[in-house]
Amino acid sequence: MARWIISATSGSTWSAWHSNYIYYVGKTVVVTGVAGFIGSRVAARMAAEGFTVVGVDDLSSGKQSNVPSSIDFIQGNLADTQTISKLPKSAEFVLHLAGQSSGEMSFDDPIEDLKKNTISTLHLIRYGIGANISKLVYASSMSVYGNVPDAPIGEDEHVAPLSCYGVGKLAAENYLNVFGKQVPNVSLRMFNVYGPGQDMTNLRQGMVSIYLAQALTNKHIVVKGSLERFRDFIYIDDVVEAWFRATTFVGVGGGVDGNTINIGTGVRTTVAQVLEAVKANVVGTTVEVTDPTPGDQNGIFADITRMRSLLGMSDFVQLADGVKRFSDFVKTV
Ligand SMILES: NC(=O)c1ccc[n+]([C@@H]2O[C@H](COP(=O)([O-])OP(=O)(O)OC[C@H]3O[C@@H](n4cnc5c(N)ncnc54)[C@H](O)[C@@H]3O)[C@@H](O)[C@H]2O)c1
Repeated sequence: MARWIISATSGSTWSAWHSNYIYYVGKTVVVTGVAGFIGSRVAARMAAEGFTVVGVDDLSSGKQSNVPSSIDFIQGNLADTQTISKLPKSAEFVLHLAGQSSGEMSFDDPIEDLKKNTISTLHLIRYGIGANISKLVYASSMSVYGNVPDAPIGEDEHVAPLSCYGVGKLAAENYLNVFGKQVPNVSLRMFNVYGPGQDMTNLRQGMVSIYLAQALTNKHIVVKGSLERFRDFIYIDDVVEAWFRATTFVGVGGGVDGNTINIGTGVRTTVAQVLEAVKANVVGTTVEVTDPTPGDQNGIFADITRMRSLLGMSDFVQLADGVKRFSDFVKTV
């Protein structure tokens, strides 16, 4: 199975991507957070594409059972240099998805959040320099923006995070910028990712999973904050595709590298609309509204112009379809 890195020679659509290939079968990619929701799926995709995948996770929130069987697995905390010393001496790419992933939980222990999210990233940057990697792709977040106007938010907008989590993500992005010449990199500012594989037992991270879990368990959803808040929900399959493209597309003059890219659908969806989608799959569910959590953004959705032009993505799974697929999946496990 011959696989190649595709380099874009012109801008905007998938059909415009040309043949400018670099062979990548068997090249090593380090994927962190492989026992988690997104990292496990990204690792499985990279393995299916022919990469040799080395996965890392400390199993703090992830589960061993999520780790794809086709990859090598290192258990360890990336904030700890002992874990870094176990990484392969050379690698082509590092896809860094490990981290404490909840804005709400970042207030419980901000120092631990800093270690898990930001210090880990610094360690990986230094590892990347030593291993002479071609690219590090980083799991950043829409949390870096903070409160924004009710309009699509572009990557060059002002950033003012409201949570310790957002501060740590932004700091990691900035460290990546500082070392960008030594470690080419791209930060993916993911919006609200949802779908099969999301942790249904964690009721403090992931809006769709929290609401779906409550509906399926109690037929009653407690919403922390206003129903008029809005977000940009993107299905896991679309996110995995974005990670694959951000990793393997080279682009003219390394077009993808050195960028920060919003990963969303560009669709403004209210919490009330999400609840309708969930209730359509769990008939008879009631809703109760309580106080908001600290650091929660009122509303945000992505300007995806850059995602379209650099990653060639514009068709996405629609929310009603994605929630149905997610609900059907959960009902069968
Ligand atoms: N899910 C979303 O909607 C979303 C949105 C924006 C950004 N992100 C970011 O994407 C990444 C993946 O998110 P997810 O939803 O899959 O979260 P997740 O909690 O399911 O996965 C994160 C994984 O990282 C592991 N981990 C945490 N700290 C670690 C450390 N220091 N060393 C080694 N392993 C560690 C955990 O055990 C877990 O398996 C996270 O960095 C998160 O902040 C997620």
